[in-house]
Amino acid sequence: MEEIILYDPLDMHLHLREGEILKDIIDFTASSFSAAVVMPNLSVPITSTDLALQYKKEILMNAKNKDFIPLMTIYLNDFLDENELKIAYDNGIKILKLYPKGATTNSQNGLDEILTPHTLKLFEIAQDLGFILSIHGESKGFSLDREYEFGKVFVSIAEKFPKLKIIIEHMSDHRSIELLETYENIYATLTLHHITMTLDDVLGSGLKPHHFCKPILKTPKDKEMLLKLALQAHPKVSFGSDSAPHLEKNKLNNNAAAGIFSSPFILCALSGLFEKYDKLENLQDFISNNAKNIYGLDNLPKKAIKLHKEKSWIPTQIKSNQNNIVPLNAGEVLDWNQVL
Ligand code: DOR
Ligand code: ZN
Repeated sequence: MEEIILYDPLDMHLHLREGEILKDIIDFTASSFSAAVVMPNLSVPITSTDLALQYKKEILMNAKNKDFIPLMTIYLNDFLDENELKIAYDNGIKILKLYPKGATTNSQNGLDEILTPHTLKLFEIAQDLGFILSIHGESKGFSLDREYEFGKVFVSIAEKFPKLKIIIEHMSDHRSIELLETYENIYATLTLHHITMTLDDVLGSGLKPHHFCKPILKTPKDKEMLLKLALQAHPKVSFGSDSAPHLEKNKLNNNAAAGIFSSPFILCALSGLFEKYDKLENLQDFISNNAKNIYGLDNLPKKAIKLHKEKSWIPTQIKSNQNNIVPLNAGEVLDWNQVL
């Protein structure tokens, strides 16, 4: 039996939600990953250390896999103060998440203007403390150009704060790759969907709300160039699923929620993808080693995940809150199966 063992898989960008949905989905990640960076965009955003620690408790209480580590984040907003950042860092919260106001789900409390004296001061403190600044980088412009247009903000922060590590979350546009190569302190996370799908999967043959996410899936060239970065496990990229569950009724209404739910089958799908391109030898770096280097995660408990070359099935739906959550590629068959 062909076999792959992945050591300490890390999902560096994950939405777990709260309450019932959290309960229903947490173990998809907790059973496959050592740790995950948990996004703070809840309906009541995680804007303080108290809220982050309370949320961490809720996550751990609901995970059957008790060895899973949620890496908590703080939601950057106009009311975040310097002292709160220091308290967060002292409590082990080392990632600051920036959402431009209105860019995506629950971003109403994000920043309308980004380079204000207030945020610049916070970036300076974040840099001094050793925070990582994770950014949902999209302008308010035309959908397909939003990430590209945001590039100048990345440049400005990277130049002003050369010791602050900045992550371009869910990189979706090949024109952003240059930023990784030009600025020592700019890195990226890549999702499974942005390296395997394009805008045609959203609207090329009928409208597919389950393929709708922010940033929107882009062109074949974007997909191919980002896939290449992933397959070579470029040292400046790590895997971040951006798995973002929404109830089916909220995906199918006429204001479809943005988010692709992929956590139930990530490692099986990535194994198939890297095998298809004959790059399985790079999967360990992409799924763990790069992130350990970039985020300085050396003290994680060890976890070895075994996959066999045998069929597995993506669930057709997960029941939650008297509704369903529909995974990406629901019901499809994969060539790899997680056995441990
Ligand atoms: O598609 C997305 N969904 N992109 C995001 O940035 C947020 C996420 C969510 O929270 O649903
Ligand atoms: Zn996200």
